[in-house]
Amino acid sequence: MSNLYDKAYEQSINDPDGFWGDIAKECHWYKKWDKVLDDSNKPFYRWFTGAETNTCYNAVDLHVDNGIGDQDAIIYDSPVTDTIKKYTYSELKEIVSKFAGVLKSKGVEKGDRVVIYMPMIPEAVFAMLSCARLGAVHSVVFGGFAANELATRIDDAKPKVIVSASCGIEVKKIIKYKPLLDEAIDLSTFKPDACILFQRPQAEAGMIEGRDFDWNDEMEKAVPQDCVPVKATDPLYILYTSGTTGQPKGVVRDNGGHMVALKWTMGAIYGVNQGDVYWAASDIGWVVGHSYIVYGPLFKGCTTIIFEGKPVGTPDASVFWRIISQHKISTLFTAPTAFRAIKREDPQAKLMEDFDLSSFKYLFLAGERLDPDTLTWAENCLKIPVIDHWWQTETGWAIAANCVGLHSFDIKPGSPTKAAPGWNMAVLGDDGNPIKPGDIGAIVAKLPLPPGTLPTLWQNDERFKDAYLNEFPGYYETADAGFIDEDGYIFVMARTDDIINVAGHRLSTGAMEEVIAAHPDVAECAVMGVADQLKGQIPLGMMVLNAGVDRDHDEIVKEVILQMRNKIGPVAAFKTAVVVKRLPKTRSGKILRGTMQSIADKKDYKVPATIDDYSILDEIKESLGTIGYGSKA
Ligand code: COA
Ligand code: AMP
Repeated sequence: MSNLYDKAYEQSINDPDGFWGDIAKECHWYKKWDKVLDDSNKPFYRWFTGAETNTCYNAVDLHVDNGIGDQDAIIYDSPVTDTIKKYTYSELKEIVSKFAGVLKSKGVEKGDRVVIYMPMIPEAVFAMLSCARLGAVHSVVFGGFAANELATRIDDAKPKVIVSASCGIEVKKIIKYKPLLDEAIDLSTFKPDACILFQRPQAEAGMIEGRDFDWNDEMEKAVPQDCVPVKATDPLYILYTSGTTGQPKGVVRDNGGHMVALKWTMGAIYGVNQGDVYWAASDIGWVVGHSYIVYGPLFKGCTTIIFEGKPVGTPDASVFWRIISQHKISTLFTAPTAFRAIKREDPQAKLMEDFDLSSFKYLFLAGERLDPDTLTWAENCLKIPVIDHWWQTETGWAIAANCVGLHSFDIKPGSPTKAAPGWNMAVLGDDGNPIKPGDIGAIVAKLPLPPGTLPTLWQNDERFKDAYLNEFPGYYETADAGFIDEDGYIFVMARTDDIINVAGHRLSTGAMEEVIAAHPDVAECAVMGVADQLKGQIPLGMMVLNAGVDRDHDEIVKEVILQMRNKIGPVAAFKTAVVVKRLPKTRSGKILRGTMQSIADKKDYKVPATIDDYSILDEIKESLGTIGYGSKA
């Protein structure tokens, strides 16, 4: 007898219309679809064409109409401001109706873009939902990015309005957002009509007359707005993610497919029901925040947590246990790095003993490879299932997971278990043909991708095809390498491009190289991700200076580090660089980043046959010996 997962998986692949069409009945539609899967314009597939809906209605109003308006929708837990504040679904409806009125008063209509640059405060979620209410397209930019990154996104998304806050709080540091916002608008070619600013008492921001408006003042005079019906295929948001260059990719998410898929994943993958308290300890600036702080739990009628803090230091490594017990969390989703941070501070998990964790059913981890040490430590301390699952900004939800709401499989350490329903996965060799189980190759998903995944990149169909579809026709290229074993378990080993994962944050080494290369003394450079016991990977820069430069190397390194902070942001965690005499290259001139990474990680490496001068590798070893990098567990 096949289990629920097998049945769901089989139907999702062989009868996607029946599978997703049935699931879609759980959502509210103003108009039903003409087609579940529309494949009339391959390789661009669309879901639920002809249908009309509203994402905010499904996330908020529907629950009020269904009689759970008094249930908490959001709990804001901010150890950095010593605040806990709860909002019921009815209160949430009132606030987002009003803030939609604020946006409307600044000219925001269906299809217009709104950039949201905010810390982890409820107003950020209100702003996202208010955009959805009007059918406007939000683009949230993570607070740890510098003005330059914000400017790039403003120029691409062309927002009518930007919503921001006066500051964020990083443990004890007050990060003023307003100067970054002002600088970004100065740098960008496109200028928004208005900025709406939420003033926080920790740092009041100066306002620019005629352009900047105060959140609270505007809310007082706002006219509440109803939900505006949009097409299922209309964009809900753009989320920029690192590509191979300094120009990030604008991942587009639609309204209909996103809503259907996410609501279903809450039960099928995470095993939660309406009324459960669900916590994704991430940031709304990342895809995990979009899908599982905001939309997924609210579609399902759960209570979601907005956590403004860190796993350690706010105030200590017990904060996760305090929140789980205080708010009766059933499912926590975070990145392995958060658990490594807790383990480092409290290796015996002594701080856990003071808390009642009886509500806690599942720990889900994603965003980077789950190392066996962290998995074992979490399992031993928590004594609940610890579930690795694999996904990407582009996919919006898990490609592979142990779908505990359908069937719990035995876990194999190092594997995020099996492909989730809707995902027809394969591993291809360099020639584009499937390779045998256990062999490593490019992990791909056969088209069409399931609902909720990216239909394209913002106003850039060609880049979408180039980046994901052209290499292996008929498949979506995940840019992850790995293998699938005889039992169908997927193992994700490494990226095939120059993306690195720093504390679960996705960063482009190509973009970092562009920053270093812009330094006037640098002739050429390479950035690679080297192993770090806490953050998984950290970037390490190597640079060759222009002939004749005789300045102090330490000074140049300091300037490059500062430039990285100013251009990309503190989130890049770029703290180490070294001047080398030469970079190892193949005879055709390709820099051997992989070899240098192995040297830096003190791993065995095969000296490439194509290298033209072996002595360079010894020089690199020697230069690296002069600096310290990589934190200890
Ligand atoms: N606004 C402004 N600055 C920010 C920021 C934000 N929203 N988020 C991070 N930064 C800054 C930090 O202050 C830090 O700056 P510093 O160099 O001055 O110290 C830098 O960016 C790096 O931040 P972070 O990656 O958070 O590292 P950390 O050393 O402060 O903390 C961890 C390490 C492991 C505790 C932290 O990375 C963490 O909690 N990770 C959880 C995983 C996670 O949320 N992943 C998201 C995807 S699921
Ligand atoms: P992001 O788009 O920021 O979510 O990053 C996506 C990338 O993170 C993936 O392509 C993987 O390289 C990596 N990743 C995410 N989850 C996992 C996981 N569970 N195991 C291994 N790698 C992962």
